[in-house]
Amino acid sequence: MLVLLGLLLCLTPADALTAFPPKYQVGKLNGDVVLKCNTSEQQVTWTQNGETEPMAEVVANGQTLTIRGLDMPATGNYSCWASNVLLDSTYVVVSSTREEQMNISCQAESYQGSFHCSWISDHSAVFRARLTRSDGSLGEWVLVAGHRGQFSVSFVDASFCPFAEELHPLQLQLEGLSNTSHINFSIPFFVRDIVRPNPPQGLTVQWQGEQLHLAWAPPASWPLPKSYFTLLYWLQYELPNGTQVDKYMEDTEVWLQERVQRVRISCQDPYASHAWSPWSAWQDIDAAQKHRLRVH
Ligand SMILES: *[C@@H]1O[C@H](CO)[C@@H](O)[C@H](O)[C@H]1NC(C)=O
Ligand SMILES: *[C@@H]1O[C@H](CO)[C@@H](O)[C@H](O)[C@H]1NC(C)=O
Ligand SMILES: *[C@@H]1O[C@H](CO)[C@@H](O)[C@H](O)[C@H]1NC(C)=O
Ligand SMILES: *[C@@H]1O[C@H](CO)[C@@H](O)[C@H](O)[C@H]1NC(C)=O
Ligand SMILES: *[C@@H]1O[C@H](CO)[C@@H](O)[C@H](O)[C@H]1NC(C)=O
Ligand SMILES: *[C@@H]1O[C@H](CO)[C@@H](O)[C@H](O)[C@H]1NC(C)=O
Repeated sequence: MLVLLGLLLCLTPADALTAFPPKYQVGKLNGDVVLKCNTSEQQVTWTQNGETEPMAEVVANGQTLTIRGLDMPATGNYSCWASNVLLDSTYVVVSSTREEQMNISCQAESYQGSFHCSWISDHSAVFRARLTRSDGSLGEWVLVAGHRGQFSVSFVDASFCPFAEELHPLQLQLEGLSNTSHINFSIPFFVRDIVRPNPPQGLTVQWQGEQLHLAWAPPASWPLPKSYFTLLYWLQYELPNGTQVDKYMEDTEVWLQERVQRVRISCQDPYASHAWSPWSAWQDIDAAQKHRLRVH
């Protein structure tokens, strides 16, 4: 008895969406929606979220069903049947009226045409995305991965040329469905505006006489040649009394006279987004080694 009740309680609410439904229809709030059952059967019966009594004012006529005055309870999975055989299903949602400003953040680690976007939304939402590439061609829809309301998607635009000036923005089109509503929007952006390099790599520290020699390389993902794809480096180091010193330079090496305790480095594209890379890990400058190297 308890088990049966549990089952009923679980089955009654609208199925949460786990994937983008193959067929869906977006209606205006309080507007009418006409559904068509894709079948050759002349007469069909309809269910809404598995219920034979729809929670809306509906008019069935042959293969069509008209939902009058669409509201939230009227949304969901409409299926048409003939003699208990499922013929077709359409997911009905309301178009989002409030201009939902979704906070989408996009980043590219380089000018290779790959980038990554992420945003936060309802747990129950599903999204798909597609890209209008730099050559104007339209990509395929890609299903977006979501986990606990965090969504993220990665794209590679193979037509993207790192050497050319970007004349037209890329365009990311997003479509989202929750159990009741639909949102649709697109964001144009230039890769140069979202580029954020990885941290510089291979930071080495060596005593040369009384001077500390530091050298590093651009991040592996950064395009070459160095002279064309310039980076500005931000070197930060700590003195024994805890004072932090910042130095900015375009060179990939520097000599320091001070007694440095530890050092880290970051970089940015000075001509594009100006976004600083994450920091490299702090690198301690070992006092014992310092002494030994000085003696030599
Ligand atoms: C849609 O999902 C929300 C929670 O994600 C729930 O509160 C609401 O009742 C659902 N609506 C329908 C019509 O199932
Ligand atoms: C809608 O309901 C039908 C019949 O129960 C089912 O086969 C289908 O998977 C459902 N669709 C969605 C998107 O939940
Ligand atoms: C209708 O069903 C046929 C056969 O299953 C399918 O080929 C066709 O794409 C469907 N049309 C729509 C609009 O879903
Ligand atoms: C948008 O999200 C980013 C991080 O994902 C955050 O730093 C920023 O404050 C957010 N902006 C708004 C307007 O919510
Ligand atoms: C989403 O918006 C695009 C234009 O930005 C439009 O072509 C498309 O039909 C819209 N999709 C829906 C389901 O409203
Ligand atoms: C820390 O040491 C540096 C160099 O020895 C010195 O210039 C600076 O004033 C010192 N700062 C403090 C807070 O003692």
